[in-house]
Amino acid sequence: MLRAATAAQHRALEARLPLTHPDLDRATYTKIIEAYYGFHAPLQRKIEQFLGPRSTAPERRKVAALIKDLRALGLNDPQIGTLPLCMTLPTLETQAQLLGIMYVMEGATLGGQVLRRIIADRLGIHADSGGEFLDVYGRDTGRLWKAFLKQLADFDHPEHNNQVVDAACATFACFESWLDRAGVLS
Ligand code: HEM
Repeated sequence: MLRAATAAQHRALEARLPLTHPDLDRATYTKIIEAYYGFHAPLQRKIEQFLGPRSTAPERRKVAALIKDLRALGLNDPQIGTLPLCMTLPTLETQAQLLGIMYVMEGATLGGQVLRRIIADRLGIHADSGGEFLDVYGRDTGRLWKAFLKQLADFDHPEHNNQVVDAACATFACFESWLDRAGVLS
């Protein structure tokens, strides 16, 4: 259901992101990781506000990985601190919306497994030299994705399924529009 509802948005974003393009270089990759940080950092804050202070939302690990990558790619902490942050985030007021948002951000770790090989081959960038985010869950990727799908299945109910789908579509739309504004899409 979610996969079919977001397939066109996924295809469009995949085609426009230069990560798989043959002319990908280190400067373009760095710009993409900066823009990813600009989306994930405020999204993490929003998720933690929704879940409460003791949250262990997966976004926390992703933002930490992005900061590590930005440092490895040559940015210092003051530079990271002044990167532009996305202010137009998907609405997050319900558990259904949280799951729709998480679907998109967690699903991206599957593509990450393809992309991490590409940046290793083309740019010589590995997990410890700027590629941690694309391999954020490492060997746990499949297991964590299955666990997330189970969480989605447990939540499945006709009363709120539309809200999950709408939030997933809104997340793809917000992310694409942010990457576009950041100038990293072709
Ligand atoms: C060039 C960039 C990308 C590539 C090459 C790519 C590739 C892939 C691949 C190979 C899968 C696994 C499909 C399967 O197992 O059947 C996948 C799944 C997924 N990707 Fe991407 N992806 C990219 C970017 C993104 C981005 C930027 C997002 C979201 C921010 C995203 C969200 C998802 C989601 C939600 C799924 C799960 C689909 C499902 O329900 O099975 N992807 N992607």
